[in-house]
Amino acid sequence: MLQVRGRYLLVFLGVQLVVMALLYHEGYRKRVAYFLGIFYKGGTLTMLASLHNASLPGDVYANLSLIARPPLPPDDLPYCPEVSPFLGGPIRVTFPPYLTLEDIVRKNPYVSKGGRYRPPDCDSIHKTAVIIPHRNREQHLKYLLYYLHPFLQRQQLSYGIYIIHQAENYIFNRAKLLNVGFKEAMKDEDWDCIFFHDVDLIPEDDRNMYTCDRFPKHVAIAMDKFGYKLPYKTYFGGVAALSPEQYMKMNGFPNNYWGWGGEDDDIAVRVALSGMVISRPSVQYGRYRMIKHGHDKGNEQNPKRFNLLAKTKRTWKQDGMNTLEYQLLSKELQPLYTNITVFIGTEKGMQRST
Ligand SMILES: *[C@@H]1O[C@H](CO)[C@@H](O)[C@H](O)[C@H]1NC(C)=O
Ligand SMILES: *[C@@H]1O[C@H](CO)[C@@H](O)[C@H](O)[C@H]1NC(C)=O
Ligand SMILES: *[C@@H]1O[C@H](CO)[C@@H](O)[C@H](O)[C@H]1NC(C)=O
Repeated sequence: MLQVRGRYLLVFLGVQLVVMALLYHEGYRKRVAYFLGIFYKGGTLTMLASLHNASLPGDVYANLSLIARPPLPPDDLPYCPEVSPFLGGPIRVTFPPYLTLEDIVRKNPYVSKGGRYRPPDCDSIHKTAVIIPHRNREQHLKYLLYYLHPFLQRQQLSYGIYIIHQAENYIFNRAKLLNVGFKEAMKDEDWDCIFFHDVDLIPEDDRNMYTCDRFPKHVAIAMDKFGYKLPYKTYFGGVAALSPEQYMKMNGFPNNYWGWGGEDDDIAVRVALSGMVISRPSVQYGRYRMIKHGHDKGNEQNPKRFNLLAKTKRTWKQDGMNTLEYQLLSKELQPLYTNITVFIGTEKGMQRST
């Protein structure tokens, strides 16, 4: 039955394609791309259609169109309720091949320049900054923005999204970029919670609140790639949330992990060394879908990570926020995010010569 309908649809769409090719010379390529998107990988016929079908359960944009600005001065808005009425639980995550940043802008009318948002209809008591270290992952970033904006709006948070872009091609340093993000975001606003967020992780349940706990919170506890379980007990990778006080108490994150791996374990050790414990959401809520990708050039495994980790106990007070050095190259307020581009140096220091 479905197959028959699919075949009719195919013929119908084929005719449409030809007609449109004749009618629209200008927008032709875009339209073709849209229809090819429907056929993408055959079996995903319903994917694009259902993504834009707000009446299906799990649509991250469901009910957000009900949010409207009441005719009140901003100072007279009531506080947001303790539990947001927009929470729907599990979110369906798919990766439509022809999504554009413009589509996302259109679907998020209340997001303002720099990727900032406050609920238009109530006064939120939560102010969360999301920091995303980034280099050459534009496709992933697009998907994350597509899901993260409505996800945070469902939770009725005031929020801002920051991309921390590591300039030049020297080896990647995730933790140092997170330190930069913290410092730059706090210059903008008195955020009460900072989310440190990998670009390739999409949250799958909107009850996973992007607010801070009494202790540093490791949030990405159930990723699909680890079978929705913690890979090991002290795992602190992917997504974590700290209040500014918790962050400063542990002297931020290490600056000296160049390349892939180890820095998240160092952070977990710092939590313990500074007298705190790791907090976690319920395993039912802390679920994430990882966007698959090949190996990143410029982010090779860090061979020194085990040596460094063995020394954290001695080094954490001398390496972190109190020794952070970088050059801010630009800060651009894009429609969906603030793009902070920094030169963070190399293993040898801040000199540019190699
Ligand atoms: C959207 O989903 C609902 C519920 O499954 C279905 O009845 C409706 O036909 C769908 N609409 C479109 C445009 O696909
Ligand atoms: C949208 O609102 C309706 C009616 O309030 C509710 O039943 C439904 O669960 C909501 N859907 C989501 C995904 O929040
Ligand atoms: C951020 O800004 C830098 C410098 O202008 C640019 O090279 C980079 O592509 C931008 N990244 C994003 C994701 O906008």
